[in-house]
Amino acid sequence: MNKLILTAAAIASFHVFAQPAFAQDAQAGEKKAAMCIGCHGIPGYQASFPEVHKVPMISGQNAKYIVASLEAYKKGDRKHPTMDAIAQSLSEQDMADLAAFYEGHGKAPQNAGKPAQPSPEVAELLKKANCASCHGEDYNKPIDPSYPKIAGQHADYLYVALKAYHTSNNRLIGRNNAIMAGMAKLYTLSELKKISKYLASLDGDLRTVPESRFR
Ligand code: HEC
Ligand code: HEC
Repeated sequence: MNKLILTAAAIASFHVFAQPAFAQDAQAGEKKAAMCIGCHGIPGYQASFPEVHKVPMISGQNAKYIVASLEAYKKGDRKHPTMDAIAQSLSEQDMADLAAFYEGHGKAPQNAGKPAQPSPEVAELLKKANCASCHGEDYNKPIDPSYPKIAGQHADYLYVALKAYHTSNNRLIGRNNAIMAGMAKLYTLSELKKISKYLASLDGDLRTVPESRFR
């Protein structure tokens, strides 16, 4: 059953990429994920350096975004000492396989629940930069597969991520993405915290899937 889902996911994501540079293999990715589960496979696992926050959920994330973020760590466009080192050790093939695995990993039945309504203040904040115009309906269906799903992600991670676009000239922290830097700089840090809290309260595809669930 697991194999079936993985194969289906691999085929489905193969079609998304019109001209994949590397054929992706979700089953190969599952084996390679052995070096990821110590952090991404433990619900609520806290990173403590350079900042304290929960490790982001990556199961159910868009494959193309996973590859883009791993490449950003490898190139230094996105700084994080641990993830930079891990990305350095990955080939393009490894990234493609891991992304295919994680995209199809732990897909839950679509939540039928109504999305939580933002407070009037948060609704205004989200409107200011039209966040949903890229991150998509309910912040779970980005308009481009290289953009992240953010609904239901950990609030403290979302905040650290948004704050990182404000940071420059720091050896350990910072994200260079020109699109998001422009967005994040429209807000104060306390506004970003409120936005993060709301986005984390939404239902979405993102999960942390403990290892024992798929062995
Ligand atoms: C020692 C703990 C640790 C290990 C092991 C680890 N990660 Fe991470 N990962 C993190 C942390 C912490 C972050 C958030 C970093 C940041 O703020 O940019 C992260 C971020 C990511 C992101 C970006 C998520 C997003 O929403 O932008 C991806 C993708 C990712 N990791 C994939 C992997 C893969 C694939 C592996 C295995 C090859 C792996 N990680 C191994 C701790 C870890
Ligand atoms: C024009 C398109 C666009 C708009 C509008 C936009 N984003 Fe983004 N967002 C992106 C892209 C592209 C990325 C990936 C950037 C990167 O790799 O650093 C991203 C990344 C993020 C991340 C990091 C997610 C992660 O897993 O690390 C968060 C959080 C986020 N956006 C929140 C927001 C919020 C909140 C708004 C509104 C204030 C917003 N975005 C508006 C395109 C957009």
